[in-house]
Amino acid sequence: MERTFIAIKPDGVQRGLVAEIISRFERKGFKLVAIKIVVPSKQFAQKHYHDLKERPFFNGLCDFLSSGPVVAMVWEGEGAITYGRKLIGATDPQKSEPGTIRGDLAVVVGRNIIHGSDGPETAKDEINLWFKGEELVSYTSNAEKWIYGVN
Ligand code: GTP
Ligand code: MG
Repeated sequence: MERTFIAIKPDGVQRGLVAEIISRFERKGFKLVAIKIVVPSKQFAQKHYHDLKERPFFNGLCDFLSSGPVVAMVWEGEGAITYGRKLIGATDPQKSEPGTIRGDLAVVVGRNIIHGSDGPETAKDEINLWFKGEELVSYTSNAEKWIYGVN
């Protein structure tokens, strides 16, 4: 089953939005298979956002990600990568639809509270960067037969 890497950034943690964000992924029907809270180093943040290293906001972005606790998670489910991004909403909260996490809970692009993998390759790389294999838990949830309609 597909897995995606989701992180609640320091602004989301400081604003007390961890439970709200987790709840939206749970209610959708995705399954939490890894979670931890960490303060990433700046070097680690640079690795995480390496694709953006030429962008003018890269330094500020990495300073910000490493400025406090981040809740790092892996969520599993059919379409978890693409639909995870839908739950999150557009990068700039001014453009995110109401009903999305950023649309409902954030205002500016530099403080958009949550990260989600943008494709299968990045999901794999980001899960490997943030988690060791043994930190990922495979289990069957009783809800799955109701979510997917298979026994
Ligand atoms: P992530 O899930 O965090 O990766 O966001 P995204 O995939 O929606 O956007 P992208 O990967 O392009 O950018 C990563 C992060 O950089 C965004 O979440 C923003 O916090 C920040 N960012 C992107 N564009 C801008 C910008 O124009 N200005 C500033 N200040 N920050 C930006
Ligand atoms: Mg991105």
